Amino acid sequence: MKEYATNKEAAVADSVSRSIKLAPSILAADFTRLGEQVAAAEAAGADRIHIDVMDGHFVPNISIGVPVVKSLRPVTKLPLETHLMIDNPDQFLEAFAAAGSDTLIVHWENNANLHRTIHEIRRLGKKAGVAINPATPAAVLAEILPDVDLVLVMTVNPGFGGQKFIESTLTKIRQVRQMIDERKLNCELEIDGGVDEATAPRGALAGANVLVAGSSVFNNKDNVAAAMERLRQSIA
Ligand code: DX5
Ligand code: ZN
Repeated sequence: MKEYATNKEAAVADSVSRSIKLAPSILAADFTRLGEQVAAAEAAGADRIHIDVMDGHFVPNISIGVPVVKSLRPVTKLPLETHLMIDNPDQFLEAFAAAGSDTLIVHWENNANLHRTIHEIRRLGKKAGVAINPATPAAVLAEILPDVDLVLVMTVNPGFGGQKFIESTLTKIRQVRQMIDERKLNCELEIDGGVDEATAPRGALAGANVLVAGSSVFNNKDNVAAAMERLRQSIA
């Protein structure tokens, strides 16, 4: 834990760290005991659960889908956010919504009709998020920003857990934070990929208010609670 010169300084740091949300990504969890791992994350103060859906086309990997969301829905009170790394997300929005996703995050890349997709998510009564890959500039968000609840800046190339945080994305996180603040939007800024004790404070300082963390929570030598506490301390 850090030392603060005054109580006021400590209180400010505490409120900043509390306003940052942690979203453990189950991609790195032990799937033979997924319910237990999610329960451990919930007990340790996770703010939401991040579920990575991959189709082997949009990204070079396959992961999980609707049945996993459906299984998790009754075992946690936490919001479930579903990160769709798939071609034709429109085809699956209704199924993920019905399975119990609270937020549906779709990518800007490869979607010629993103506005339609975002409004379809809203029509389904869900929160809508837009994700951008490391090579995609912040500027593409200008028109869609007022319509989304969340922007997800990928801090690795999507497709795999356990990758190294890409440093150059920090500049983009700052740019997106500025775009949100200038427009006075009530939009969350989430980062995803390579988030650990070293990179979490840097991402938070750049303006992220939601941190997705897979390996650093579930694939850690510590248990889930200790791993989450260390992550929280890193941004305190
Ligand atoms: C990557 C996924 C991430 C992944 C992050 O494509 O979107 O959510 O689970 O894993 P870590 O935290 O291990 O980089
Ligand atoms: Zn993700």
